[in-house]
Amino acid sequence: SASADLVGTRIVISAGGTREPLDPVRYLGNRSSGKQGVALAQAAASRGAQVTLIAAHLEVDAPANIDVVRVSSALDLDAAMREQAPTADVVIMAAAVADYRPVTVAPGKIKKEVAGDTLTLDLVKNPDILAALSAAKAPGQIVIGFAAETEPDTDALVALGRAKIARKGCDYLVVNRVGWTEGFASDDNVVIVLDATGAIVNEASGSKISVANRILDVIAHSPV
Ligand code: C5P
Repeated sequence: SASADLVGTRIVISAGGTREPLDPVRYLGNRSSGKQGVALAQAAASRGAQVTLIAAHLEVDAPANIDVVRVSSALDLDAAMREQAPTADVVIMAAAVADYRPVTVAPGKIKKEVAGDTLTLDLVKNPDILAALSAAKAPGQIVIGFAAETEPDTDALVALGRAKIARKGCDYLVVNRVGWTEGFASDDNVVIVLDATGAIVNEASGSKISVANRILDVIAHSPV
């Protein structure tokens, strides 16, 4: 977009997948590429926003002209978001956050000679960063979450999204239709944007940059 409708807006965007350490050389991870979050950062910057990208693990390069804070685990991301969010006008949680992390991180490599034929990992739930940011929201701040769902039926998909936005307490939820016609590894996406009442405020499909711009349209016109 050539418009400058986000000038004067500070946007903090998390992107990519967290890694939860097991020992100094191993982690539990996920397959998030970070592409949609990076596209949001690029699109917001091109519309004049002051953007900070909180980058977990990305399969794409972070944009060169944008402030980037690197994080790895969900706890790192939680700390970075708590630091950055209070001065943001808009917070977008596009990162794929691990739901659980290992209870203990072994100080040295876990050895198969010691562990034997089976190894049991104890996991503990990570903090819900989006829910905490939503609860701590400054007046006038907009908090946006994502939901990646494989549900093929539109009504059921929207119902899942409505339940999630009620649980999380954010202003908007971008329901991301994974496993649809567009491939998981492709540059395309299909989304439905819900507001806090569960109403559909925008729908978009196409390149992750064009989808990013449609999400940013919601922010630019938000009454929140
Ligand atoms: O709970 P679920 O993973 O389905 O919700 C997805 C949304 O919540 C995404 O915006 C994700 O960034 C955020 N999330 C979070 N902290 C977690 C898990 C998810 O902020 N521990």
